[in-house]
Formats: sequence, structure tokens, C-alpha cells
Amino acid sequence: MNTAPPRTPPAQTAPTHLEIEPSVLYFGTPVVLLSTENQDGSFNLAPMSSAWALGQTVVIGLGREGQTAYNLGSRPDLVISLPAPAQWPAVERLAPLTGRNPVPAGKPQGCRFEPDKFAAAGLTGEPSHLVRPPRVAGCPIQLEARAERVQPDVSGDFVLVEAVVRKVHADSRIVVPGTDHIDPAAWSPLIYNFRHYFGLGPELGHSYRTRTPRTSTGPAADPALADLAPR
Ligand SMILES: Cc1cc2nc3c(=O)[nH]c(=O)nc-3n(C[C@H](O)[C@H](O)[C@H](O)COP(=O)(O)O)c2cc1C
Repeated sequence: MNTAPPRTPPAQTAPTHLEIEPSVLYFGTPVVLLSTENQDGSFNLAPMSSAWALGQTVVIGLGREGQTAYNLGSRPDLVISLPAPAQWPAVERLAPLTGRNPVPAGKPQGCRFEPDKFAAAGLTGEPSHLVRPPRVAGCPIQLEARAERVQPDVSGDFVLVEAVVRKVHADSRIVVPGTDHIDPAAWSPLIYNFRHYFGLGPELGHSYRTRTPRTSTGPAADPALADLAPR
């Protein structure tokens, strides 16, 4: 069923847009936490928001000098954990940290080396099933994956990673019971919106292609899901 309201003709208005030169174009994408394996067998953890899914592949953009890019260049296994909005303080605790020692010159001022980012963020690793890097406990969605292609971007400042997902773990509270569907009314990504953190607002409508069975009218129907707490 099409839930989009009928189209109304656009009103004539004066020009509404300014030409601006923003320093970043982070227009609001989900935050992911990438677990990767360091050369010494320990594990690195880094927040990223340049990530999107194409079928079973997640495409990720990484700073060329970071430890995550370095790790994926030689050890392709990773876990992509998606935090809930309530976990934003832990994400922000990771923001000024790098697993790279010495800290690369290109990192922002104040960035410091941290060998145990899980502990520094107050997060816990839990074993993965198919890959060596751990999942982040408490993240409602965790994707075990393998970086099948790692290549430079056009600017030379970043690397583009194509990671094929091998196993999906989902908190039972966001899964439609008895199905493989994530309930979009129960799950909210943590959105990085021009360097500010947001969750999702209420549902506006749905695509004609959705196959998710409806079980609730949204988080308001079950207050326990409104701000999915880590467990
Ligand atoms: C919410 C958030 C999103 C970020 N997104 C990206 C990103 O998409 N790509 C990137 O290279 N760095 C991103 N960063 C910055 C990295 O997390 C940061 O450079 C970190 O030091 C990388 O760690 P590493 O050097 O151990 O890999 C983001 C930081 C935060 C807090």
C-alpha cells in the first residue's frame, strides 16, 4: 500500500537557498563502530559515519592514515557494530583516540594514541563467530564482515572499503518475532548529523517495497524500546 500523501502543486516562492561552503558534508548517516585486528593481535575500535549498505556489502570511507585503514589493508576481518542513540557518549569518548602509534601528523589536534579503546570508551567486546575482531556488546546490530576490496579514493586522503557481511547479529528486541526482519519501529540508528548526534523521529511512512510485518505502531507503543538501552 502506498502511504505517501497525494502531491500538491508547489507554491511560487522567492529564492530560498544560499550558496555556502561548509567545512564538512556529513549530512546525517548512521554511526558504526569498526573492530579490527592490530598487528600484535590486539583489537582496535573506531567510530565511522561514512558507511552505507549495498546488498550484503557495506561501503566504508576511512582516513588513509588511521589505524583502521592500516589494519584492513593487511587483516581484512572486521565487525561493524551499530550503536543505539543512547550510546552516543561512548562513541564520543572514542572520537579523539587513535590506535596508531605514533599519532599521524594529519590527525586533528588533541588526538592521542590509545591501545585499549574498548576500555577507554567503557565498552566491552564479545566474541564473534566467524572473524577474530570482537563485536561491541550492547550494540543492537553487529555485522561480522570481511574487507574484500580496500582502495584509495580520488583525493588520496581516504581509502574506500567494500566489506562483505558474513553474519548478522540483532538484539531480539528489534527483531519482528519469528522472522528475519528488523522492526524499523523498534530500531533507531545513531545519526551523525553535521557532527551532532541524533536518533530517529517517529515514522513518516514506508516504501512500497517493505516486507516487514507490522507488530507495533512505533517506539511509543512500547516505552521500553523508545531508548533502547544497552544490555
Ligand atoms: C561519530 C564519528 C564519525 C566518524 N566518521 C568517520 C569516518 O566516516 N571516516 C573516518 O575516517 N573517520 C571518521 N571519524 C574519525 C575517526 O573515528 C578518528 O579518525 C579515529 O581517530 C580513527 O581511529 P583509528 O586511527 O584508530 O582508526 C569519525 C569520528 C566520529 C566520532
